[in-house]
Amino acid sequence: MRQTLVAGNWKLNGSLDSIKQLVSGILAGIGDTGDTAVAVCPPFVYIPLVSELLQGSKVALGSQDVSDQDSGAFTGEVSGPMLKEFGCRYAIVGHSERRALYAEDDEFTARKFAAARRAGLTPILCVGETLEEREQGITEDVVARQLDAVIELEGIGAIGDAVIAYEPVWAIGTGKTASPQQAQDVHAFIRGKLAGLDGGVAEKVQILYGGSVKGSNAAELFAMEDIDGGLIGGASLVADDFLAICRAG
Ligand code: 13P
Repeated sequence: MRQTLVAGNWKLNGSLDSIKQLVSGILAGIGDTGDTAVAVCPPFVYIPLVSELLQGSKVALGSQDVSDQDSGAFTGEVSGPMLKEFGCRYAIVGHSERRALYAEDDEFTARKFAAARRAGLTPILCVGETLEEREQGITEDVVARQLDAVIELEGIGAIGDAVIAYEPVWAIGTGKTASPQQAQDVHAFIRGKLAGLDGGVAEKVQILYGGSVKGSNAAELFAMEDIDGGLIGGASLVADDFLAICRAG
């Protein structure tokens, strides 16, 4: 039985005040989220603050990105060991916004995945197709290519210790959610592809769905066989909305 994981990706949002409020709202209601594992991924600069606020709670901390380098002359980067030092457990890699807006390709994403693992962080590897790719009928090819880059660099075993997030680009921040069946189809494809390489890894790996998940649609998505939770953008910025999704897990 895979544990359900609900992770909030706060993206480029928040201030000292709003983040303190958000965390205290989440902590106030976290007691009735049962066995669901919960994580939040603040912008880098707020990680020390959030790390302190989360002390002693079940809410884990993650970063939204990680450098492919561990240290050195790489201006502007934040490394895995730094994130680990501030209590991060997870690091998102290959989010579609990084891929599309900052030209991070499959190979670079794979190196970030490797860097996260070197530091003892659990990578949350994002994969997903654009609307154009879906309409061309190449969703599975795109997702397979994104996975293969990581498997080639790190091996199939590494996927077993990671989290995968399927985030169709057309459903991110658009209010358009993949239907539970549409999402399940891609999740089943991912698990089936992994099973072809290593049955144990396929059985173990958590595959999250991301893209306009809300309190109102989370339960039906999480009820699907191969959907093990969610990576939440907009709805993770409001404590009650985020908690409703956690409870759906
Ligand atoms: P939304 O939930 O705002 O669609 O964002 C999803 C996402 O990109 C999470 O990483």
